[in-house]
Amino acid sequence: MREIIGKVKEKTNIPVYERTIENVVSAVQASSDIWRIVDLSEEPLPLVVTVLETLKEFGYVEFRDGVFLTEKGKKFADEYGIGKREDYTCPHCEGKTVNIDAFSELLEQFKEIVKDRPQPKHEFDQAYVTPETTVARIILMHTRGDLENKEVFVLGDDDLTSIALMLSGLPKRIAVLDIDDRLTKFIEKTADELGYSNIEIFTFDLRKPLPDYALRKFDTFITDPPETVDAIRAFVGRGIATLKGPGCAGYFGITRRESSLDKWREIQKLLLNEFNVVITDIIRNFNEYVNWGYEEETRAWKLLPMKVKPTYNWYKSYMFRIQTLEGSKGYEEEIKDEDIYNDEEASTT
Ligand SMILES: [Fe+2]
Repeated sequence: MREIIGKVKEKTNIPVYERTIENVVSAVQASSDIWRIVDLSEEPLPLVVTVLETLKEFGYVEFRDGVFLTEKGKKFADEYGIGKREDYTCPHCEGKTVNIDAFSELLEQFKEIVKDRPQPKHEFDQAYVTPETTVARIILMHTRGDLENKEVFVLGDDDLTSIALMLSGLPKRIAVLDIDDRLTKFIEKTADELGYSNIEIFTFDLRKPLPDYALRKFDTFITDPPETVDAIRAFVGRGIATLKGPGCAGYFGITRRESSLDKWREIQKLLLNEFNVVITDIIRNFNEYVNWGYEEETRAWKLLPMKVKPTYNWYKSYMFRIQTLEGSKGYEEEIKDEDIYNDEEASTT
């Protein structure tokens, strides 16, 4: 075990622990599908690949159309008491913790509207969630008291959450921005067709500071930041800056697929120490993303030992809810660095 960890450390700067090896070996016993192994192991994709390549060098796994434990690998797993990773996620809510049936009509309407939605663009790091996820967000936010008669800001809306918000009729006012004018035009057109007027729509690059009229005006924000600490500072920090004061809420997704727990600790420090907010909820794998179609152009594709397309929605993120207290503050500075979207753990850009 120590030798394996030593070898992995030579190849990557992503932190590796005995637990990392356990997670990967456990996942390989549950599935030979490389995407499922990343999904189940809950380690960053580049680290999973490095661990698997190292295990292959030691003769513990072999690569065919998928990843398999060898006889030697099975003995290794036995010796360390590493069993198969089980998945007993609640089949009714799929781990989202909310009852989607409560808004089944809204879900049908939403699906009908987004049928002709703009498809993800690689240049904007886009990947949208399933309609069920978007509607589950509305249900979650409503059950936390963050929607009804509230002013809600959507920062970046690849997921078209603003459309589901309009359909719910719950918020008093909605503001939404995105860098991609295909999306803002689509939202505008939908608002027109629905005859919904309490919405403001902007085409805006979040690396720039928000204008004054967006600051300290809202009760709730939702965003889906790229997975680097700097991008989270920019996106979530700007979200917090739009909030009126104490007692407001923010929602965003953070994944395990592109962020190690070491990075998670940095993110949580940022939330607690820089922004002075409190984390009230973390819901595992709440956000499920539709495979974005440009897999072959991503770093993940280059890294993977076998070039197979994912056969199911393997990319998920945990839903964070934060709440502001006395002394909470956001981030209003300009982002100077051009590339805040990538770090060593990232792989889907
Ligand atoms: Fe459930």
